[in-house]
Amino acid sequence: MSESVCALVTGSSRGIGRGVAIELAKSGYDVMVNYAGNQAAAEETRDAIQTLGRRAEIIQGNVAEEDDRRRMVDETIERFGRIDLLVNNAGVAPRVRADLLDMTMESFRYVMDTNLTGPFFLTQYASRRMLELRESGVIGVARIVFVTSISAHTASINRGEYCLSKAGLSMAVKLFADRLARENIFVYEIQPGVIATDMTSGVKEKYDKLIAEGLTPQPRWGVPEDVGKAVSAIALGYFDFSTGSAIEVGGGFGVRRL
Ligand SMILES: NC(=O)c1ccc[n+]([C@@H]2O[C@H](COP(=O)([O-])OP(=O)(O)OC[C@H]3O[C@@H](n4cnc5c(N)ncnc54)[C@H](OP(=O)(O)O)[C@@H]3O)[C@@H](O)[C@H]2O)c1
Repeated sequence: MSESVCALVTGSSRGIGRGVAIELAKSGYDVMVNYAGNQAAAEETRDAIQTLGRRAEIIQGNVAEEDDRRRMVDETIERFGRIDLLVNNAGVAPRVRADLLDMTMESFRYVMDTNLTGPFFLTQYASRRMLELRESGVIGVARIVFVTSISAHTASINRGEYCLSKAGLSMAVKLFADRLARENIFVYEIQPGVIATDMTSGVKEKYDKLIAEGLTPQPRWGVPEDVGKAVSAIALGYFDFSTGSAIEVGGGFGVRRL
């Protein structure tokens, strides 16, 4: 990559976000590493990127808070001079996996605020700022990636609020892809399957068993690097005529089998 380009990756202190940030650094991106509360983990991601010879900075910010969203985008542009890529990765599972008939309004709001409202309005603000940067010739093509889930189309009745949030986010991809295509800002959905992170550590035994029994054609857990490589392919421009597309990173989870 000839000139330096910059990505803001939400929730990149740990898990999938960290894997994405590191793969982007390998692909030549400087990275703004966002975290919610775990500063030490964010510093580890930053250090790993710097070891790869790219620039990285950390920024605290809750994607569910409007002021934080604006500050994250504005500071990325202030500190790096640009933003070429936004990766909406930060997300939460419900604090309690409760049956659909017992789901609380509090849990619904918590998951929706973080997983859907947050990335939607972060993208709205970031794309406005990207348009300004494009008009003033600072950036060329810009790209936006949403990390949704196979839960965007797969029902799990013990975490319905999570499935709803990801299904909504999947439509946000299509909406932004349509709105921004003529502006040369391309928008994509990545649907991870079962990926080994802190989010899934509590259900490790359950998924070990399901995978061993044939849940996915490729019989292994995914790792954050798997998702990072897919995001990097988008970031490098290899999917520039595919705006609005969804890519599953799930070992073939979506293949219908008999
Ligand atoms: N793991 C899977 O199997 C799987 C499958 C499909 C989709 N996904 C999706 O992939 C994304 C990442 O999941 P993960 O498994 O890597 O989760 P994780 O291990 O729990 O890590 C979550 C990351 O998001 C950050 N975060 C949480 N709430 C935030 C908020 N309100 N504002 C900003 N950052 C916030 C955390 O920051 P702190 O470190 O500061 O807490 C952390 O960096 C999520 O959107 C998730 O829904 C995961």
